[in-house]
Amino acid sequence: MKGILLHGGHGTRLRPLTHTGPKQLLPIANKPMSQYCLESIRDAGATEIAIIIGGIGSNKVKEYYADGKKFGVKITYVEQEYPKGIAHAIRLCKDFIGSEKFLVFLGDNIIQKSILDYAKDFEKSDAEASILLCEVDEPSRFGIADMRDGKITKIMEKPQKPPTNLAVTGIYFLTPKIFEIIDRLKPSWRNELEITDALQMLLEEGNKITYHTITDYWKDTGTPDDIIHANKAILQSMKPYFHGKKDDAHVTGNVMVGMNTQIHNSKIGGPVIIGNNCVIDGVNIGPNTSIGDNTKLSYCNISDSIIMSNCILSGNLKIRKSIIAANSNIILEDDSDEKVFLLGEGTRITL
Ligand code: G1P
Repeated sequence: MKGILLHGGHGTRLRPLTHTGPKQLLPIANKPMSQYCLESIRDAGATEIAIIIGGIGSNKVKEYYADGKKFGVKITYVEQEYPKGIAHAIRLCKDFIGSEKFLVFLGDNIIQKSILDYAKDFEKSDAEASILLCEVDEPSRFGIADMRDGKITKIMEKPQKPPTNLAVTGIYFLTPKIFEIIDRLKPSWRNELEITDALQMLLEEGNKITYHTITDYWKDTGTPDDIIHANKAILQSMKPYFHGKKDDAHVTGNVMVGMNTQIHNSKIGGPVIIGNNCVIDGVNIGPNTSIGDNTKLSYCNISDSIIMSNCILSGNLKIRKSIIAANSNIILEDDSDEKVFLLGEGTRITL
């Protein structure tokens, strides 16, 4: 089975974080969210993977994953020039896939459970597709499956009046039959070729679609709130380690600290991850917080947040539910009147 990882799109709801790169590279617990997906595909047995790139900062995806060797996979990059939808992206991989069954993973979907058993089931079955469903609170945000007597009767994209709260997650097991279906699809109201429309057409033409319902953690990380939520869930599931140095530090709960990180006179209450080469001084961190590599924090109080790499945060700052991009400085000092205050396009600050 081969794999396809979708890594395109504009991530508009995550601006300004997505002005400089794709949303799927945003870190969750200090690892790009799409790396969780890539590892999930690999662990399901698909080590030949096509990554669909397109939109801002596609070169960063190639730089990060390169030929895939470092991650134990072989990567082929496929460019999607315009964001014409998931089904369109899949169609671009027809030659790459050939005649095998395959697996598609949206690079912004975080799932904690292994998908290996689902992959094995699909390999053995005579179904043309298998999808993973998950109960959600806001079904009109997702593709939705309608059911009768335990069978899928209809699949629709973001219905205004959802018949169920069973979201079609962004993990799809497919056969090459989907390619000729996609060739006959019409663009949706958002001018995209929808995977849900393709699945619906498969159903209408009498093909078998099986499903599994996920009860473990699953999140489509479309909004900043979703990212903070996924960060918390992943941090909670990690095993603690401490590779840094500490003095006069009070560390409790699930805490992961990287190499060469120094923690002085601080209180860390997990779950918290701190990357490599950080300097933490006089700080109160946690819970549910990720601090990227090479970041320096002094005298602040941070929880439920993601502070990426190479940041400097200093002064009596109280940071809650925030995502601070790499290379940012927030410094409170007495002569700050002297300094020019800079804010990137689309920044949201509520004080
Ligand atoms: C896409 C699919 C939708 C699915 C969702 C899962 O939505 O179109 O059917 O439920 O991913 O993440 P989008 O992220 O394009 O809004």
